[in-house]
Amino acid sequence: ESDASRYLPAHRDLGSLAEAARGCEACPLHERATRTVFGEGPVGARLMLVGEQPGDTEDRQGRPFLGPAGQLLDEVLARVGLDRQELYVTNAVKHFGWTGDEKQRLHAKPGRREVLACKAWLDAEVAQVKPRMIVCLGATAAQAFLGPGFRINLSRGQVFETPWAPAWMATFHPSALLRMPDDAARARARAHFEEDLRKAAETLR
Ligand code: URA
Ligand code: SF4
Repeated sequence: ESDASRYLPAHRDLGSLAEAARGCEACPLHERATRTVFGEGPVGARLMLVGEQPGDTEDRQGRPFLGPAGQLLDEVLARVGLDRQELYVTNAVKHFGWTGDEKQRLHAKPGRREVLACKAWLDAEVAQVKPRMIVCLGATAAQAFLGPGFRINLSRGQVFETPWAPAWMATFHPSALLRMPDDAARARARAHFEEDLRKAAETLR
């Protein structure tokens, strides 16, 4: 079993990390993905957002949260007064995972093995950025930090002190909101999502 730590560069500024991550082959996801999608944002960003893994759009364009989930995220960030330019935005897993064929690439959720393999990059980003708060979007990101026992439905919106940041929270993944078939359930979850991000914004004030 391998993890990405052997790909980490000696100098760990964000630019060197992103550069080194382009060559990461620590898990099989790099084989079918177009490129590594590393995190982006300023060193010293007070808030770090952690998603699951890049999707189809992000894999093509090379930046996190650009597709439908990113658009919903941007909309809610604006509503709660958070400026994406000031945040560090990344993913638990840096390569897109998919099944199907080139015509229709279907997102395949990363397994525990890929999450653990990729955690070295996430840890290195946290060590560089030193955010005051980390907000995990969805269970995959939350479980990358706190293990597979973490449940979004039980603990979303609660702020915890952790070794990674003095304030740490998990909320829904925007893609999960987009996928909910029931209008009422989706509206409710979306309201919770906004409430959680507003709480994060207030925690940072
Ligand atoms: N979903 C994620 O978790 N991350 C992205 O970057 C895009 C979609
Ligand atoms: Fe490396 Fe992460 Fe890509 Fe796997 S998903 S190859 S660990 S960067």
